[in-house]
Amino acid sequence: MKLLILGSGGREHAYAHLLSKSSLTEKLFVTPGNAGMLSCAETVSIPLNDFDALYRFCAENSINTVLPGPEDPLVAGIADFFAQRNAESGLNIRVAGPDAASARLEGSKDFAKAFMERHHIPTARYKTFHAENLEEGYRFLETLNAPYVLKADGLAAGKGVVICHQLEEARATLHEMIEEQKFGSASAKVVIEEFLQGIEISVFAVSDGNTWQVLGSAKDYKRIGEGDQGPNTGGMGAVSPVPFADEAFMEKVNNRILKPSFDGLKQEGMPFRGFLFAGLMNCNGDPYVIEYNVRMGDPETEAVLPRLKTDFAAIVDGICSGTLHKLSIEMLKQTAVCVVLVSEGYPNHYEKGLAMSLPEAGPDSMIFHAGTTIKNEHLCTNGGRVLAISSLGDSIHSAASASYDLADRVEYANKYFRRDIGKDLQQDNLRA
Ligand code: AMP
Ligand code: GLY
Repeated sequence: MKLLILGSGGREHAYAHLLSKSSLTEKLFVTPGNAGMLSCAETVSIPLNDFDALYRFCAENSINTVLPGPEDPLVAGIADFFAQRNAESGLNIRVAGPDAASARLEGSKDFAKAFMERHHIPTARYKTFHAENLEEGYRFLETLNAPYVLKADGLAAGKGVVICHQLEEARATLHEMIEEQKFGSASAKVVIEEFLQGIEISVFAVSDGNTWQVLGSAKDYKRIGEGDQGPNTGGMGAVSPVPFADEAFMEKVNNRILKPSFDGLKQEGMPFRGFLFAGLMNCNGDPYVIEYNVRMGDPETEAVLPRLKTDFAAIVDGICSGTLHKLSIEMLKQTAVCVVLVSEGYPNHYEKGLAMSLPEAGPDSMIFHAGTTIKNEHLCTNGGRVLAISSLGDSIHSAASASYDLADRVEYANKYFRRDIGKDLQQDNLRA
């Protein structure tokens, strides 16, 4: 395969790292990429929303497979665009991701909730409101107990969910979202749903439109501060697998959530091709869907994929060629712990362009780059999330220790990371 990866974060570096090691990969490009990918791929600079330019680049460079990292190009219909262009050109440039119809699972919360209702997939009770039935929305809030969960229907860069603890605050937020377009057109519709009490967990699966398989579970740490304090971020760390996602729990996830999701999409004429990320709440041992994403998570990918025994390139090829059934995806039993290093100030204001130096990673660890670049031949920070350091170990403790040992030896001004990734999942804490 000749591949083009879309994106520039730790997730895409993990993709590039695994693909570059496969004998199935003949040539690997990334746009826009980061400094870490320079050793395993050729980086180019084509905007991810310029499908025409992306298609031309693929055609000119004999690229036959595109692997999108983030959701935006998928929701905007890159798979449909390439299929249309292929029909015109006679080429077969494949996109390892869903078409726009099934990408609505992530692109529209209202679509996702209605889909789950149609297929009896466990999720919080909800109603959707817009400018025309806003008054009804205020009345609906009065029928719920606090806390109130309000979700912008469309993509809002991960910020579209507001949880309010007082009724007045929820009313004001609903007003701001719909009438004042707090999240632009993404909040023209708002889903209000029941608050689910439990522990969050993500489950990743892959499908070629015919069959599907589970990749694994992960827990991510979204808040900037230790003990889950402070503002939300893109993700400060991840652990895979999650100890409480045992066989019995995963069987419920498969039967109640993944199977009806993939079957439902197929029945409705939009078979899912790509990676499905189910964001779940474990409520007393029963999984409920909080959200779907139609791509892998970041930083969850950096904890899930190091555990992969199967050739990642074969999985990507299987998605595109409808041959996933020929693979039996296998994962290492070991645990991976990923610690994200950021620039102090993130997720608000932070500096970029700070000179960096990295330690040498041992065989069980990997330093994935996120916001890095090369300036005047020096490695520099280039974003809020700078690195994602992952290690494998026989326990959460040993994997975390290896990642923290490397994190401590990374040098750049204003380095910050959480020191409690995985602590809540360790046996002593679970028993406590
Ligand atoms: P989302 O962007 O849908 O993942 O939501 C962001 C965060 O809001 C989730 O990770 C949860 O922590 C929280 N959340 C979303 N929906 C609910 C819900 N129904 N009950 C409790 N927490 C929720
Ligand atoms: N870490 C959450 C996400 O990728 O959406």
